[in-house]
Amino acid sequence: APPAVPVRFTVNGKARALELDPRVTLLDALREHLELTGSKKGCDHGQCGACTVMVEGKRINSCLTLAVMHDGDDITTIEGLGRPGDLHPMQAAFVKHDGFQCGYCTPGQIMSSIAVLEEIKDGVPSYVTADVAGKPALTGEELRERMSGNICRCAAYSNIIAAIADVAGAKDVA
Ligand code: FES
Ligand code: FES
Repeated sequence: APPAVPVRFTVNGKARALELDPRVTLLDALREHLELTGSKKGCDHGQCGACTVMVEGKRINSCLTLAVMHDGDDITTIEGLGRPGDLHPMQAAFVKHDGFQCGYCTPGQIMSSIAVLEEIKDGVPSYVTADVAGKPALTGEELRERMSGNICRCAAYSNIIAAIADVAGAKDVA
C-alpha cells in the first residue's frame, strides 16, 4: 500500500484529522474512518446518489472522489443536519410526505434535495414559470431532472418531489 497521507477537514462542524491511504474515497473515509455511516454506499460508481454529501456547500457523490482531495474542505453529511426532535425542515418534510420506504437512498435524497433548493436560488433558474401571483413557480419536471442522480429502488419518487416542493413553498409541482 502507498504511504498514508495526512488529511484534515471539517465534518459537520468538527475538525477531523486522519492519516489515509491516498486511494481511500471520501465515502469510505466518512463511513470507515469517522464512523459516519449515514452516507450510504449503493453502487460505489457514481450511479445511485446514495453517498451524496455536501462539500463546500455543493453536493457531490462521495464515492467518486478521494478523501485526500478534500484537505481543508468543509463537509456536511446527513448526521450534520438534524436529530430526532430537532429535524432539518427537509428531513421533517420527508417524514410528513412519506418520502421513503426502505430508507437506504434517503440520506442521499435529503442531501441532494437541500442542494437543489440552494442551486435554484442562485442565478436564473430554468424552472421558473410565472404563477398567478407573478411569483416563480417550481415545476415537477425541473425538480425531477435535478434529482435524477438519486435513484430510489423503492420508487418513492413522487413523495420525494412532494417533500421538496413543500419545503420550497411551491403549491403545485405537477
Ligand atoms: Fe456513490 Fe452510488 S454509492 S453514487
Ligand atoms: Fe428504498 Fe429509496 S426508499 S431505495
